[in-house]
Amino acid sequence: MKKRVGILISGRGSNMMALVEAARADYPAEIAAVISNRPDAPGLAWARAQGLPARAIDHTAFTSREAFDEAVHAALTEFGVDLVALAGFMRIQSAGFVERWKGRQLNIHPALLPLFKGLHPHKQALEAGVKISGCTVHFVTTEADSGPIVAQAAVPVLDTDTPETLAARILPVEHKLYPHALALVASGQARIDGGRVVISARPGAGEALISPQPQGGG
Ligand code: GRF
Repeated sequence: MKKRVGILISGRGSNMMALVEAARADYPAEIAAVISNRPDAPGLAWARAQGLPARAIDHTAFTSREAFDEAVHAALTEFGVDLVALAGFMRIQSAGFVERWKGRQLNIHPALLPLFKGLHPHKQALEAGVKISGCTVHFVTTEADSGPIVAQAAVPVLDTDTPETLAARILPVEHKLYPHALALVASGQARIDGGRVVISARPGAGEALISPQPQGGG
């Protein structure tokens, strides 16, 4: 049985698109709903055009965070959602909502957590002078960008990078990582063990990424 995934967005939704595309192939999850807190989110229009169940739940129409979260929860329940995937969803969630979806809600963050949590992660990475950054898919807990890590991908950071060029290098990697991580969770291969995620039946580690790259001959 495929897991039914609800994707929460606020903006352009490129990670949502990557999940939708992945779910069109042989995949352990199907996209049951796309929900945006912003009625004008370009990603929502795209989802509608694809014929996906898409809904705007405008957070400005609610008097409290809890009331908005309650409406999102009701919609997710109505769509029969098993797993929630945050994809550029720019709202902090109430503790009650996070608790209800504990172990069933993922987020993607464009940095190698636990480094550079919160806003402007690309700028934070450049200011720290790291030579490698990347992206992380993790389970959502009440502390932002801090839940158990499902998967990560790394990219080099260049001396000439701006937050924009670094973001542009990481984003296409996000589009590969998120579908991969969601598949691990949806298929039951990734499970939370204390504060970590263990992955069953995985092949060996990949290759090292060295940045800056050694020139031939060393
Ligand atoms: C991505 O960089 C994601 O990692 C971060 O917000 C951005 C959303 O982009 N959480 P998009 O809406 O998926 O294109």
